[in-house]
Parts: sequence; structure tokens; C-alpha cells
Amino acid sequence: MVTRVIPVDPFDLVVFGGTGDLARRKILPALYRRFCAGQIPDEANIIGAARSEFDDAGYRAFVRDTILEFAPVTLCEDGAIDTFCDRVRYIKLDARGDEGWEALARIIHADRVRAFYFSVGPQLFADLAERLHRHGMASGETRIVVEKPFGHDLASARELNTMLARHFDETQIYRIDHYLGKETVQNLMAIRFANMLFEPLWNSQYVDHIQITVAESMGVAGREEFYDRAGAMRDMMQNHMMQLLCLIAMEPPAKFEPDAVRDEKLKVIRALDTVVLDDIVRGQYEASEDKPGYLDDVGNSESTTESFVALKTGIGNWRWAGTPFYLRTGKRLRARTSEIAVVFKDAPHSIFGADAGRHANILTIVLQPNEGIELGVTIKEPGPGGMRLIDVPLDMSFAETLGPGAELVPDAYERLIMDVIRGNQTLFMRGDEVEAAWRWTDPIIAQWEEKGERPLPYESGSTGPEDALALMHRDGRRWREIRE
Ligand code: BG6
Repeated sequence: MVTRVIPVDPFDLVVFGGTGDLARRKILPALYRRFCAGQIPDEANIIGAARSEFDDAGYRAFVRDTILEFAPVTLCEDGAIDTFCDRVRYIKLDARGDEGWEALARIIHADRVRAFYFSVGPQLFADLAERLHRHGMASGETRIVVEKPFGHDLASARELNTMLARHFDETQIYRIDHYLGKETVQNLMAIRFANMLFEPLWNSQYVDHIQITVAESMGVAGREEFYDRAGAMRDMMQNHMMQLLCLIAMEPPAKFEPDAVRDEKLKVIRALDTVVLDDIVRGQYEASEDKPGYLDDVGNSESTTESFVALKTGIGNWRWAGTPFYLRTGKRLRARTSEIAVVFKDAPHSIFGADAGRHANILTIVLQPNEGIELGVTIKEPGPGGMRLIDVPLDMSFAETLGPGAELVPDAYERLIMDVIRGNQTLFMRGDEVEAAWRWTDPIIAQWEEKGERPLPYESGSTGPEDALALMHRDGRRWREIRE
């Protein structure tokens, strides 16, 4: 497989929160991998900014350790980390005070693309935006990158949007949902809009239902405080799951261009049915033999936050009226697996008789861990003895089909950071999209808060609470297995 590198002009990238967890795990390793791919020009400046006491040399040592820990070391030849680190600098900066801002302004080039990555808590966004503006760094080719969670509800998301809009135009704001940067998620659009095969069947006439699962095997340890305030609904459903739903359900955009794609996604969110309590199951994982339960993990024995949510919704438009969409996500489940399954209707009449059973084609797009596409088809079971039907998969694993090069498929953050530098907003959320997603999420949360019920306990390593299975069983359907 050939990985094509699109050259970019020299740029300045400032990572606020440059010593934080996200910078270590994702942003710095992603930049290093792009450097190894030959995409970071020699004159580029990568600037870490934080409150820690570092000078350039100290921060370079920090970056070096980070890369050794989080980026595959086989990627580059010897000495590459040092060459990469030559492009790295550090500014000690106080987001809420004056320290560091003038020094930062001095090393930023006025004639370059300048990206400021807000890898800090949202409570600092206003201060950063205001000071960038005050120190003359907010104009022209400036782009700011903001991480999720983008608000806690509709009111706070609106407030954030209004506040950022004071100093930045919408075309300068890059709201990250890293699921959009995943290779297979982008492939969803290729599968749908570059193949003639599926589109005629992609509607309620032929599709029985769609199910989306994002299951994680890990718990919430390490991010207890944030997670206990958010829960699965805010942490995953309002953003990642919603984006997947949009891409699978949206109308074909006229072009693969930012607003064309985002307009179509927005239409889906606006057409989503309000979810009623009967169609939602919330869960909280219990301790297993070797791991603590959710309450112990977050150190709050009274917590009513959900670590699992499953729900059923629908889309009120011509294409999807009557087709249910089932979504579930949770922590400490049986395996880490994410997939979207499009389950087609049974053939209208079986010429093989009732004994042949019911068979439905299922198109499964596996997002992780073994990215690929599987199409379930029905065939005759080989051998004599009449016409017995069995379902078999037409299976395409990216790793096998694309060869060893598939390992070099860029991580979501690589793709997204370089899109910021190139000025391509297609894979970023627009302000109105985020607000619409909260407008759908808020009433769901309000309903269960009003009812005040605890989430249902579920066994660690299971598929979630029993009631989540019942959510589909009562409609005569079932979830696909959660498997490695
Ligand atoms: C993050 C959530 O946005 O996505 C985490 O805050 C979650 O709770 C993570 O674990 C999942 O991302 P991925 O890429 O590992 O599926």
C-alpha cells in the first residue's frame, strides 16, 4: 500500500496543556508519526505551553520520553526523535495571567498557518481565546482546536460557541471528535458514496434496522472525576455515537466539502426522534474478581452515573421513517469492539419453504479493533440432502487486504491535526451540529434525572445489563455478539 504524503507549508503549532495526558498519549505521538512520514517541514515549530517549569531542553527530554512510551519506535531511523525534537520548543505560560504570552507572541510567525490546540479543560477556553486575541495572535491564518467535551449540555455549549465567536470566525474553529478521524469511519463515506451497490437498498424499504455498538473493556480508572460528572451519555453518545449515526444515515452530500457534509449530518440530528424512557437502558459495572466496580473506581458510593447506555431511536424523514436505530456503548464490557451493523430485511417470500428458516443479509462495518467490512450472505449448505441454507460472511479485513502497509494507516489524531494545518474542516464538528446533538441529548438526561432511578448493575466482562438485551428482544431482534 502506498501512503501518500501531501506536503504542507511550514507552520506553528502551539499545544496548550503541552505536558498533559492528551498531549502525551495522542498529540505528540501523532506529530512524531507525521514527521516520520515526511510531512512536517524542517521549519515547522511545535511549541508546548503549560505551567510546568521547563526550558526548551527539558521539554525536549519530556517529548522524547513520551514518544518512546507512546509511539512505535520501529517507525523511524535512529536519530529521528532528536531531529523531531529540534523542532520542539517550550513556553511556560499562565492561561489566566500574563506570564508567557509576550514570549509566545514573539516566536509565532505572523505570515504562517498558526494552530493553537486547546488541550486543556473547557474552563480555560475563554481565557485562552481572550489572551490570544489580546496579544495579536487571533487573526488571519490562526486556527484553534478544541477537544470534547464541548459543553455539558445545550446551554453550556451555546455559551462556549458564543464566547469563541467573539474572537474567532467559525472557519477558524476546529472542534475535534476523534472518531471522525478514524480511517474506517471515513471509509463509511467511501462505502456508501463510492459504490453503487448499497445506495438503492439504503432505506427503510430494505433495511430492517441498524445497530451501532462501541464497547470498551477498560473501566474509568484514571479519569474518575471527569467521567463521574459526564457518564456514557455525555462522554460517548452525544458525540462519537451520534457522529457514526449521522454518517450511516445522512443523504449523499453534493461534494466532499466541509459544509456540504456537515449540513447533511445536521439534518440527521435534527430529524432524530426524541427518546422515551422505555427505550433507554442505563447500567453501571460491578466489581469482578480482580477489578473494582464503578463506585469504587470513582470513589463515590452514591454515584448514579451510567457507565453503559443502550437506546432505541428513529429518524423522521422519507429515507428512514419506521427503521429503528439501536445504539449501545459501555465500559468494562466483554471486549473492546466497535461496529455498525446494517441488518437488511428478510427476502419477502422463501421459495425454499418454512424449513429453510429466516435469513437476513447483514453489512457490518468493523471500526475496531480488526478494521474491515463483512457482508453476511445466505448460501446453500454444501452436500446432498436437500436445500439447507446457511449464512456465511464475505469478509474483508483491511490488514489482510491492504497488506503490511495497513499498519501505517494514520491514527485519527494524525489525520485531524494535519487537516487543521491544511485548513480542511470536513472532519470537524460545526457549532450548530454540536448544539443540535445536545438538544437531542438533554431531554433524555432530564427524563432520567427526574425519575431518579439508579442505573442497573451489570457484571464486568459481560455485554451490559439484561434489560439491554430485552430492548431488542421485545422487537423480535437481537444485538450482535460483542466479541474480539
Ligand atoms: C473518548 C472518551 O472520547 O473516547 C473515552 O472520552 C473513550 O471515555 C474514548 O474511552 C474511546 O476512544 P477509542 O478511540 O479508544 O475508541
